[in-house]
Amino acid sequence: MTSKNKFMSSSSSILFSPFRLGPVTLRNRTIRAAAFEGMCPGNLPSDNLFNYHREVAAGGIGMTTIAYAAVEKSGLSFPHQLWLNNDAVPGLRRITDAVHCEGAACSIQIGHCGNMSKAALAGRMPLAPSAGINLYVPTFTHRMNNTDIQSVVKSFGSAVNLARKAGFDAVEVHAGHGYLISQFISPYTNRRKDSFGGSLENRARFMLMVMEEVKKAAGDDIAVLVKTNMRDGFRSGTCIDECLEIAKMLENAGADALVLSGGFVSKAPMYVMHGKMPIRVFAHYIDEKLMSFFVRLVGNWLVKEVPFTEGYFLEDALKFRKAVKLPLVYVGGLISRDKIDEVLGNGFEMVALARALIKDPDFIKKLHDNELSRSECDICNYCIAVMYSRQAACIMNDQTIPQKVKDMMPKNGSI
Ligand SMILES: Cc1cc2nc3c(=O)[nH]c(=O)nc-3n(C[C@H](O)[C@H](O)[C@H](O)COP(=O)(O)O)c2cc1C
Repeated sequence: MTSKNKFMSSSSSILFSPFRLGPVTLRNRTIRAAAFEGMCPGNLPSDNLFNYHREVAAGGIGMTTIAYAAVEKSGLSFPHQLWLNNDAVPGLRRITDAVHCEGAACSIQIGHCGNMSKAALAGRMPLAPSAGINLYVPTFTHRMNNTDIQSVVKSFGSAVNLARKAGFDAVEVHAGHGYLISQFISPYTNRRKDSFGGSLENRARFMLMVMEEVKKAAGDDIAVLVKTNMRDGFRSGTCIDECLEIAKMLENAGADALVLSGGFVSKAPMYVMHGKMPIRVFAHYIDEKLMSFFVRLVGNWLVKEVPFTEGYFLEDALKFRKAVKLPLVYVGGLISRDKIDEVLGNGFEMVALARALIKDPDFIKKLHDNELSRSECDICNYCIAVMYSRQAACIMNDQTIPQKVKDMMPKNGSI
């Protein structure tokens, strides 16, 4: 076998069988989920980002996803986050070339964080469907007018064209987790009275305008995935019935696949990942003293723990499997071969993993070679606590982490 196809099926397992996703063929059913790497100082791709995704590709993944690229400056939520503009293209091309050399496909998540930005980063008051305050950042927000809406929609289309220039096989539109598209969909953040607010049809209008622009730019050579919520994860957020309707709209809008997730960063952040949030570590790494103190004081109240179980989204995801026909990517709590096979056996075409691959970029290769059947990740969520201020890293892999920080971690992870 060539290096390109050695992670394809050597038995009857569907996990290692190829899959045609729109115009792209993946060598197996695995995707490295978009998980913010924090490896873009100055908003540009770094050598660390290059090394990480090359390693994941060499580790057997079907497709790796570069996380959370802002489609314009106002969509940035971190200073060390990727901004998909012309300056980023050469560095990204270097990554896609290396990933392709390892036989994997390469995708980039494109999004706009809306009310999760800061004036200092966005260069203006953060954009949002409605004016108000986002306590999570904290910031005041600017209600987008029709010109703002058209301009952000266009930026999504331009981002797809830049993604093509940089050699990507796919883009993943971030329409979940309480970022801008999801802020329009959610009644919690959208209190508009015009044609973008009120009914579900109106709240979904911005998303569908983005989809039209993205599909136009993607043409027939770039796959379009959409990460969408199955629930926002709190009482006044979008419920599952509305999310099922959203999924049908995305299918009709021509998405090649949906990545099914949930949660809303400014209100129910741990619903995305489940498990405990190590608040003391999170606070420790925040440079601004006042903010760090504030997080230590109210962090446990702001960021509620959600118990972790393997495959925690499966029950909800099955309802989506029944409702739509397009390919579905299951993500959420996959750390063992058994659970991955159970998910694929339930009709999901692909699986995406984040934490298991932060722990070990070779995890897929090890599953393939029967070297491991379960990740060593114990969902301690250190990677989440640190990504806000530095590179997302695994506590087990980084020997330089001071004992003082290790002592701040809750014992035995989340499982
Ligand atoms: C460190 C970290 C960063 C993440 N960043 C993103 C992100 O940028 N975009 C996104 O859609 N999801 C993000 N996620 C969520 C993951 O993509 C995934 O949905 C979630 O972690 C569940 O998958 P897992 O159980 O395999 O980790 C992040 C998760 C982690 C752990």
